[in-house]
Amino acid sequence: MKAYVFSLAPVEEAFAKDWQDQHPDDVLTVTHQALTLETADLAKGYDAVSTQPERLSADLFKKLASNGVKHVALRKVGVDHVDLAAAKDAGIAVSNVPAYSPRAIAENGLTGAMYLLRKWGYYHRQMRRGNFTRPSGLMSDEIFNQTVGIVGLGRIGAAAAEMYQALGARVIGYDPFYNASLEPFLDYVDLETLLKESDIVQLHIPLTSENKGMLSTNEFAMMKDDAILVNQSRGELVDTEALIVALKYHEIGGAALDVLEGEEKVFGQKFEDVDSVPDEYKELISMPNVVMSPHSAYYTKMAVKNMFFQSLTDMERTTKGQRAFFKVN
Ligand code: COI
Repeated sequence: MKAYVFSLAPVEEAFAKDWQDQHPDDVLTVTHQALTLETADLAKGYDAVSTQPERLSADLFKKLASNGVKHVALRKVGVDHVDLAAAKDAGIAVSNVPAYSPRAIAENGLTGAMYLLRKWGYYHRQMRRGNFTRPSGLMSDEIFNQTVGIVGLGRIGAAAAEMYQALGARVIGYDPFYNASLEPFLDYVDLETLLKESDIVQLHIPLTSENKGMLSTNEFAMMKDDAILVNQSRGELVDTEALIVALKYHEIGGAALDVLEGEEKVFGQKFEDVDSVPDEYKELISMPNVVMSPHSAYYTKMAVKNMFFQSLTDMERTTKGQRAFFKVN
């Protein structure tokens, strides 16, 4: 196969070398550049391209098709930024990597939730100012006494449910699709019940045109005043302005966020100082009841390796005339 890998991260360089060593007949070309309309011509004459964070438009697929590309393999699970119909029209197969490590994401959510539950942000802020006391307001709850609501019970939501259940929490879940194999770990409820009853609300759903801003003022008003929101899915599921208000006025207790609306303008960047950071991010990161990471829930050794190899394996299948395992269009 002739494959072009875009947006190669330094941590993936060794994987590219391993692949090439194991497949000496393949032509594997890599670049740190993103796949855009401007860079798409680099893939002229290649069978397939692999890429990660970019938005992939109809024009880009047309250009790739005119360059002979037959397959775009995403090194990620989410396809919300990809015009799948346009890819199909252009005759390009698109694949993702749906299970590179569900536990990587689920663990990150659990870590954020526990940090907030045990008030580490407040203690840390106090201690940085020389205050080593234990105010009564900072007494915590224990996870086995909590109700955890998981929104979205695909692979990642299921992994999260199992983890919380193993810690003794009562787990409830919402998903329009029923999966009987999850019954040992949780009780299925409707979304409103989940929002009202949960001490921790954790999102594990893909972004679609229907669920943008699904958590906003009304939903925060339904949630418990000390509830913790964990978003590891997509920033656009949550109305950021409403979230900031809810956190400020204690309509909810805290938020662990790995994703945020419009994060492309911030995540992956190094600002000169915190004053140069856009306001909503500055405000959120300064709150003791917020803990944030830069869309790094996926960023574990196992997940990054699986993403790389599974995406290349699927490209190879397409070039051999087989159906890609994880074709999404
Ligand atoms: C995904 O897999 O969809 C993610 O959100 C992680 C990605 C940025 C590598």
